This record gives sequence, structure tokens and C-alpha cells, in this order.
Amino acid sequence: MIGKLNHVGVATPSIDESVAMYRDMLGATSITEKWAMPEQGVWVCFVNLPNSQIELIEPYDDKSPIKSFLEKNPKGGQHHVCFEVENIYTARDEMKKKGATVLGEPRIGAHGTMVIFVHPKNMGGVLVELMETPKVVAH
Ligand code: CO
Repeated sequence: MIGKLNHVGVATPSIDESVAMYRDMLGATSITEKWAMPEQGVWVCFVNLPNSQIELIEPYDDKSPIKSFLEKNPKGGQHHVCFEVENIYTARDEMKKKGATVLGEPRIGAHGTMVIFVHPKNMGGVLVELMETPKVVAH
């Protein structure tokens, strides 16, 4: 059911510092501006790689869903992986049918397509984001 690995989500206390690290230490040359997604409680930016992306996420406010993750991992860390699926509602129903805990309802993700998250307890300890394949490239 899953398609391409779309991105790896990395939580950080500072997108600016993480961008500097990817640019200056790892030599990344294509990095988007950061933008706010208040309804998701995060600032977001993408480091574009030849075959995938790193999604940098920083808490937007005190209610951010990644706040507790950063309390446990103050320097930040790998937060989720995102696989593409053809249809988010089919994917959600399939996950539920297979006994997985789907977190919340399908909602608009950072690429402008619908996403869901599946609880790490069902995914070998990895928080999994499933995302509808974008119809056009967003960047
Ligand atoms: Co993501």
C-alpha cells in the first residue's frame, strides 16, 4: 500500500540552527523558507535532497504537539517518517482494519495534501505519517 518515502520528519528547537547545520556541515543547497502552520502547532521547512526531503519542525507555541518530544530530546531528533499513499481515507480505513491506532482525522499536511499519523506502538516504535501523493510538485 505505501509508496515513496516522501520525507523524514526531524523535530528541532530551532529551524534556523538546523538549516545552518544542513547547509554548512552537510552541504545541502536547496532549503525552503520556513513557514508557520499554527493549526498543526509547528513551524516547517524542507531540506530538499535528490531523492527525498528532510522536514524540519519547530514548536509554534506552548500547545505544540512536538513540545513533549523536545522536552525528552532537547537537541531535537528524528520524529517521524512519511510514506506516500494514493488515497488517505482508504489508507486510514485499512490501518484501522488492521488494528492500528490512527491519531486524529485526515488533515492538510505541509505539502498541501491530506495526511494521517499512525501510532508508533503499531509501527515498530516509529511514528508514521501517511500522505496523499501530491498531484503537482509543491516546491
Ligand atoms: Co511530516
